[in-house]
Amino acid sequence: MYTPDAIGTPNSPNATKVLLLGSGELGREVTIALQRLGVEVHAVDRYEGAPAQRVADHHYTIDMTDPQAVRDLTERVRPDFVVPEIEALATDALQEIEDDGLATVIPTARTTRLTMNREGIRTLADQELGLPNSRHVFASSFEEFQDGVQQIGLPCVVKPVMSSSGKGQSYIRTTEDIAPAWDYAMSGGRVHSQRVIIEQFVPFDYEITLLTIRSVDPATGETATWFCEPIGHRQEHGDYVESWQPAQMTTEALEAARSVAARITGALGGRGVFGVELFIKGNDVYFSEVSPRPHDTGMVTMGSQRFSEFDLHARAILGLPIDTTLISPGASAVVYGKVEGDDPTYTGLAEALAVPETDVRIFGKPESHERRRMGVAFSTAENTDIARERATQAADAVQLHVR
Ligand SMILES: Nc1ncnc2c1ncn2[C@@H]1O[C@H](COP(=O)(O)OP(=O)(O)O)[C@@H](O)[C@H]1O
Ligand SMILES: [Mg+2]
Repeated sequence: MYTPDAIGTPNSPNATKVLLLGSGELGREVTIALQRLGVEVHAVDRYEGAPAQRVADHHYTIDMTDPQAVRDLTERVRPDFVVPEIEALATDALQEIEDDGLATVIPTARTTRLTMNREGIRTLADQELGLPNSRHVFASSFEEFQDGVQQIGLPCVVKPVMSSSGKGQSYIRTTEDIAPAWDYAMSGGRVHSQRVIIEQFVPFDYEITLLTIRSVDPATGETATWFCEPIGHRQEHGDYVESWQPAQMTTEALEAARSVAARITGALGGRGVFGVELFIKGNDVYFSEVSPRPHDTGMVTMGSQRFSEFDLHARAILGLPIDTTLISPGASAVVYGKVEGDDPTYTGLAEALAVPETDVRIFGKPESHERRRMGVAFSTAENTDIARERATQAADAVQLHVR
């Protein structure tokens, strides 16, 4: 794992270079944070005009699931770091890039492989680490699926092993839901007719993201782990709608959450920000999943922390000191497209920004969809209840229009 002892000048032969695989709104903030530290950023996406592409030093449009395309671009750019921003990548190519010493993959190539597939990460958490998590089985045919549902019992949750943002995910409450859940999972995964996970439904009190950062501790020169204050969030259709920080937790639950987060991120290794998703019931904590990169619910940290999760990711990539100070309770609320069409226009910014202690990011995506995340509002306040009201009010004020 490469730790630069100096930062070069962008667009010169000594530039410190990052190849960012995935150029969404989270990648855009990572790009800006890296550039502020003097890094030259090359942003990649599958379509032209993706948010990070528009601010990066250089950008490319390729199929990132094509191993040869990823390899060729890495050889052309010669980055110091390859930083994945999405799950759907040619992870075998990343492994080869790491093995050949071509670049350092953040956090590691193995982690990108394990976390792109629910089976990989859940098996690590459950079998190898013994972390508390919901009872689950995997199935790759309808017969196996029926047996699995029987084994886990109702209610249960079904998800394609390779999917994100709730795609192909559904709940089985009665036996009538079984066949539709299978069909939906088959149509919603990243690849067709793949495996699914059947999980026991956890009747949690609330869920959190615990942002966990691995970087170099300047006091020891060794890799160490830092935690941000826990982030509460609310999901609809498998996608986050609003988040707030700090989430109120008992000391016992917070300690258990930190222990789970330290163990899973420690087992994954490398450096960077991890978004550890946990379900909390009383003082019990259940591991759900982990993003080896900044988390969407962590957008709240742009307002609530001295350094956002994006600033912290940039620092951790470079092996620099970490400061997770919370400066105020805060909240974020998503601006969904709500309309279908190209080149949307946005109104209501004046109204949104008139809300106290509030800021807005418009992602500038070329296409709007009803449930596509097109922007975010974030607010601070004396408590998270008021911050949530403010962020939601601001997000609602922003309206998209297409001709
Ligand atoms: N076993 C479960 N029990 C209860 N709720 C769940 C369970 N699994 C998922 N959920 C709900 O669905 C959301 C999305 O599930 P998740 O596994 O995080 O999928 P994704 O990878 O699409 O984010 C979770 O944040 C949670 O609200
Ligand atoms: Mg999730």
